[in-house]
Amino acid sequence: MPATSVVGIQWGDEGKGKVIDVLASGADFVARYQGGNNAGHTVVVGAETFVLHLLPSGILRPETVNVLGNGVVVDPEHLVREIAALEGRGVAVRERNLRISARAHVILPYHRAVDTQAERWKGEGRIGTTGRGIGPAYADKAARTGIVVADLLDRDRLGRRLRAALAEKNAVLDAVYDAQPFGFEEMFEQAVSWGEKIRPFVCDAGALLRRAWREGKRILFEGAQGTMLDLDAGTYPYVTSSSTGTWGIAGGTGFPPRWVDEVVGIAKAYCTRVGEGPLPTELTGADGDRLREQGREYGATTGRPRRCGWFDLPAARYAAELNGVDWLALTNLDVLRGFDPVRVAVAYEHGGRRFESFPADRVDLSGLRPVFRDLPGWTEDLSACTRMDEIPETARAYVAFLEEALGVPVGFVSVGPGRGQGIRREGRTPERART
Ligand code: IMP
Repeated sequence: MPATSVVGIQWGDEGKGKVIDVLASGADFVARYQGGNNAGHTVVVGAETFVLHLLPSGILRPETVNVLGNGVVVDPEHLVREIAALEGRGVAVRERNLRISARAHVILPYHRAVDTQAERWKGEGRIGTTGRGIGPAYADKAARTGIVVADLLDRDRLGRRLRAALAEKNAVLDAVYDAQPFGFEEMFEQAVSWGEKIRPFVCDAGALLRRAWREGKRILFEGAQGTMLDLDAGTYPYVTSSSTGTWGIAGGTGFPPRWVDEVVGIAKAYCTRVGEGPLPTELTGADGDRLREQGREYGATTGRPRRCGWFDLPAARYAAELNGVDWLALTNLDVLRGFDPVRVAVAYEHGGRRFESFPADRVDLSGLRPVFRDLPGWTEDLSACTRMDEIPETARAYVAFLEEALGVPVGFVSVGPGRGQGIRREGRTPERART
């Protein structure tokens, strides 16, 4: 049985939540391997919209076991709130359907404070983070001053580690950022109480996933953010602090890389980005506003308006290749309705040079000028289409163009946010991928 990676090949917000939700109908496990509650995965079930930040998208399917791997950074205060909110809406979150790695690092209030202060400190050079403490928590992990989920369950150990961490953080907050320090006692008691609430879910998540695989269970790995925000592969320094690509799975869950045998890439039919950093195809004028409105492109986590632009082929090709994408789910095709032409960046120009692929050398990425190929648009509403032959010829030609140019089959086309609003394309996905 396959272990499938579902990964965004743009700058995040590709619609992974929806695709995972569709694929999860046949999955026994859905596991996250990186990121934290900086993510915002939107899933529409009937008349209800759920925005998941930390919990895997499989949580909305009662039979699915959801796993937060060791590579995830868990904000326990947020986690407790997200669980309570779901429970309040009738979604059961129990030991049987949520498992959390004992090794995952936790985000504590001082990480959020440092995130906000560091952004302020950077001024013009800021990243535009979500302010959730993600970067500082991963920085502590790498600096070996982090606190892990297992520490929350052991008063003595937590006391020692928190005291040491706070001493350092408070010194920095005070001396560098001129910000309020945190008191030990209150944070300690809070952390202990969060630990008690999440204790039932804590386990050796890697061992759980490896056993599941040996038993033939079907596992989906849910990427958060997108490949272009990956710490290594993305547009550094305008990236998040984790390995968002498929390569993050092994280190972030304790699952052998060779056992992942299918990679599904998710791309929007155009591009969006939240926060600072290069977006070569960005539309800043009226077309950008229109795309934003038609696509309801506002950050699911921070509510920030997303920057919008045309599909960026060199970036998507680069990301698809890095991940070893087997097939692609193309989302939000319906949103391009009424644009004519529909444009696709096929290359870039910079300083008199032409780049057919995403540049890795010392080029200032913000100076890349896209070279566009124009394709005819369509005016029809695609949102009720259930088969490819129901969508207009020009929209089909657009999909075929991307498929050809990326060299990856498009196996699923999403035409709206709802569970039913998607077209599976027979013959484009391997047999094992079907649910
Ligand atoms: P951080 O992950 O909060 O540190 O933010 C780093 C960068 O990643 C910022 O540009 C954020 O806007 C972006 N980012 C983080 N999470 C997401 C996401 O889920 N979707 C899109 N962008 C994100």
